[in-house]
Amino acid sequence: MSDIRARLGSAVSAAFEAEGLDPSLGRVSASDRPDLADFQCNGALAAAKAARGNPREIASRLVARLQGLPELEAVESAGPGFVNLKVALGLLSERAAEVAASDLAGASRVAAPRRVLVDYGGPNVAKPMHVGHLRAAIIGESIKRLFRFRGDEVLGDAHFGDWGFQMGLLITAVLDEGLDPARLTLEDLERLYPAAAAQAKADPAFRDRARKATAELQGGRADYRALWSRFVEVSRSALKREFHALGVDFDLWKGESDADPLIPAMVEDLRAKGLLEHDQGAEIVRVAREGDKRELPPLLVVSSEGSAMYGTTDLATIVDRRKSFDPDLILYVVDQRQADHFEQVFRAAALAGYAREGELEHIGFGTMNGADGKPFKTREGGVLKLHDLIAMVTDKARARLREADLGAELSPEAFEATAHKVAVAALKFADLSNFRGTSYVFDLDRFTSFEGKTGPYLLYQTVRVKSLLRKAAEQGAEAGPIAVAEPAERELALRLDAFDVAVCEAYDRRAPHAIAEHAYQLAQAFSRFYAACPILAVDLPGQRASRLALAQAVLKQLELSLHILGLEAPERM
Ligand code: ARG
Repeated sequence: MSDIRARLGSAVSAAFEAEGLDPSLGRVSASDRPDLADFQCNGALAAAKAARGNPREIASRLVARLQGLPELEAVESAGPGFVNLKVALGLLSERAAEVAASDLAGASRVAAPRRVLVDYGGPNVAKPMHVGHLRAAIIGESIKRLFRFRGDEVLGDAHFGDWGFQMGLLITAVLDEGLDPARLTLEDLERLYPAAAAQAKADPAFRDRARKATAELQGGRADYRALWSRFVEVSRSALKREFHALGVDFDLWKGESDADPLIPAMVEDLRAKGLLEHDQGAEIVRVAREGDKRELPPLLVVSSEGSAMYGTTDLATIVDRRKSFDPDLILYVVDQRQADHFEQVFRAAALAGYAREGELEHIGFGTMNGADGKPFKTREGGVLKLHDLIAMVTDKARARLREADLGAELSPEAFEATAHKVAVAALKFADLSNFRGTSYVFDLDRFTSFEGKTGPYLLYQTVRVKSLLRKAAEQGAEAGPIAVAEPAERELALRLDAFDVAVCEAYDRRAPHAIAEHAYQLAQAFSRFYAACPILAVDLPGQRASRLALAQAVLKQLELSLHILGLEAPERM
């Protein structure tokens, strides 16, 4: 089973070959002018260049060969040498039926499944999660689902930040305040950490004690370890709850600390391989390469206090993952501003033979900004906590539902659940509808609107299809063979066909926005179809059955798209 673009591609390639031209030039893409054609091939231009011929003349010869093919309703040459293709209704009907019958709604699985580990979320002990972690969680969750959808074996790991300097800061602060470890709460941690971080900046003696505490914790000092486990436990359960509310769930909740037992042997190994160098009391691996545009600083492996650093735990985590899951690919979904860090780690891993070229990838993303164009802050200028952000968006979602007169007949619990789904959809879709590398501005009004390219719009359209199908079932109307006829049906069938292209693009570029865009286009095409083509009211049973089958295919594809994006549609609204 292949999409229409691929099928037309084979037909056009055969025509190139028959003309004595390079068949690989027969590639077909969606038309730039949907008003004129469905697909186009630009290969005649390249063929003309290679053969010093006239592109228009080559295009006409190709058109002559393609004329009369059963897959095509029309074929003509246009412009400087394009071949414009209009798909026959029979092929559209056949393809729509395939989509309707397919478990993946017409998308394809990867040819050779791989083991893929997605490292995302990256929350830290005691530091409240902020909008940077939100993006990591949203994008990472979607990439995890996308890879799994296409058939890879995928694990998502939170890679909890539980081993660095912030642990020493907390230990020192708790001891200075004389707090009882058994009674420590999340509120304590969230109060202590920023205060300690500020104190470390202002007071070098405090900073040095915190550094020493970090090294002693890592060295195995028992009372520190006990305190540390308490921090981890308190933070982890709160963070899990917050992620879960967002529809983000990890398969592994490992942390930087899990790599700790592997560090001594790894450091020895680096030394034995001659990669470790002494540098002002610390030990480093030099990773700069000839031809680098700017000098990449060395990876700091052991600090002058003898502590493991961020890069050390990342490197040892690669060794750990090798031993456990042995992934073919590790994707690190982390803020673009950490690009240098990952480059250092990846190069060190390559030098040490822990990973091969191409097995480690940093999937960076931009920031979510406030109206001032700077990373989003609260009105008071502080870092906005994720929890507060979700509460704020849910408030707005409730208001939006009431304003649109939606959910009025729902029970109070169902209304709350719907408001939560709308809020999560608003936040996630706003994020995922941009290419991940682009920064975007947080705009609560726009994100929560039921109109335009938004999560709530998508949920609303999905609920509409669901209620149509429910009504059909109540009336005993059944789906049947698809026969595409009307222009709005044609457009809808072409959209259904385009899902695989979107999924493959999203997969290859690790860019869920291609799925978001597809889902939006599909919802719009359905909306036009629904307005133009009566379904339950139509007299011809065959036509009703065909349109119901189209609606079922749309629902399946919308639901799969929503699932990949991490959105959930309610049954009713
Ligand atoms: N905890 C880190 C932070 O908050 C992100 C961790 C990302 N993953 C990794 N393997 N380094 O910045």
